[in-house]
Amino acid sequence: MIAATEIKVTKAEKSKLNEMDFNHLPFGKYFTDHMLEANYENGEWKTVEIKPYQPMLIEPSLMALHYGQAIFEGIKAFKGNNENAFIFRPYDNWQRFNISAERMCMPPIPQEIFIEGMKQLIALDINWIPAKPDHSLYIRPFMFSTDCQLGVKASETYKFMIILSPAGPYFAAPMKIFVEEKYTRAAPGGVGFAKNAGNYGGSLIAAKEAKNLGYDQVLWTDAVEHKWLQEVGMMNVFFVINGKAITPSLEEGTILDGVTRKTLITLMQEELQIEVEQRRINIDELVDAFHKGLLSEVFGSGTAATVALIKELRYKETIMEFDTTKANIATTLKNKLDAIRSCTEEDKRGWMVRV
Ligand code: COI
Repeated sequence: MIAATEIKVTKAEKSKLNEMDFNHLPFGKYFTDHMLEANYENGEWKTVEIKPYQPMLIEPSLMALHYGQAIFEGIKAFKGNNENAFIFRPYDNWQRFNISAERMCMPPIPQEIFIEGMKQLIALDINWIPAKPDHSLYIRPFMFSTDCQLGVKASETYKFMIILSPAGPYFAAPMKIFVEEKYTRAAPGGVGFAKNAGNYGGSLIAAKEAKNLGYDQVLWTDAVEHKWLQEVGMMNVFFVINGKAITPSLEEGTILDGVTRKTLITLMQEELQIEVEQRRINIDELVDAFHKGLLSEVFGSGTAATVALIKELRYKETIMEFDTTKANIATTLKNKLDAIRSCTEEDKRGWMVRV
């Protein structure tokens, strides 16, 4: 096992921080001075290193490029009071990373590398954390196979890395969503619950076609009937019907077990006294509730997006519009989450992990 102190650190000769315009931070475009890299071979993780952010040299036969053993996570760090930095629920992402790894026949990553490595990396680049509302340091841990050969099999070697990106909001404005019936994101027995790269690659065509129709993203439906609702774009989804929040349940393994999803469920149940149902929900129930005036809010949740307001849902010829200025539950949740993460509200559950 690798202790945090065993991480070799090589500092960048010159910081890029002075070149950064913190008033213009599109999501995921700029990277900090350092990155973490660890290599797996002969059944163990070794050579854990923090070094200057730099390009990688790879062989064209790198298996990850051909057969897609590649997984990732998204996590955020924030500046707290007194210049301290905090990471939001990183242990949950560490556990989910290892669930994705198991599904993709990849080795688990030890906590010492994932969490302690992340803390050391952030401590080094702490001045890159934006202190503005809706801004954070987005943390991207990822792993990919590194054997170089073309036989289809699980690789025997892997690389784990963490890169950091100071970022503004992912979706700044309320979204228009198209209910997808042609393409499928995930089916039971598949990889929908894993955060593997292919899930995102496979979703692009649906998003592209929705964009051509004037929509920002799609609401995914099940693979068989195209009726049962799964996720919205790259986020979990919540529907407020008759004052109750309903979100698709996890048991079919077709949606991501979102850390923001479970955070919002806890906040609704324990702080806002809002009833939450995690269950199967189909589009007919949603349309029916809309026509009866019972569907008051629809919103997405994710690390990158936090809480994303939805102003329109289109299913076939039915257009369902929502006045997002009246999206009280989504807005209260976003404000509460922002307050906890900016340390202006007490973190009662130990979600904020100090760097
Ligand atoms: C996240 O919310 O962190 C995601 O992974 C979504 C996306 C940026 C891929």
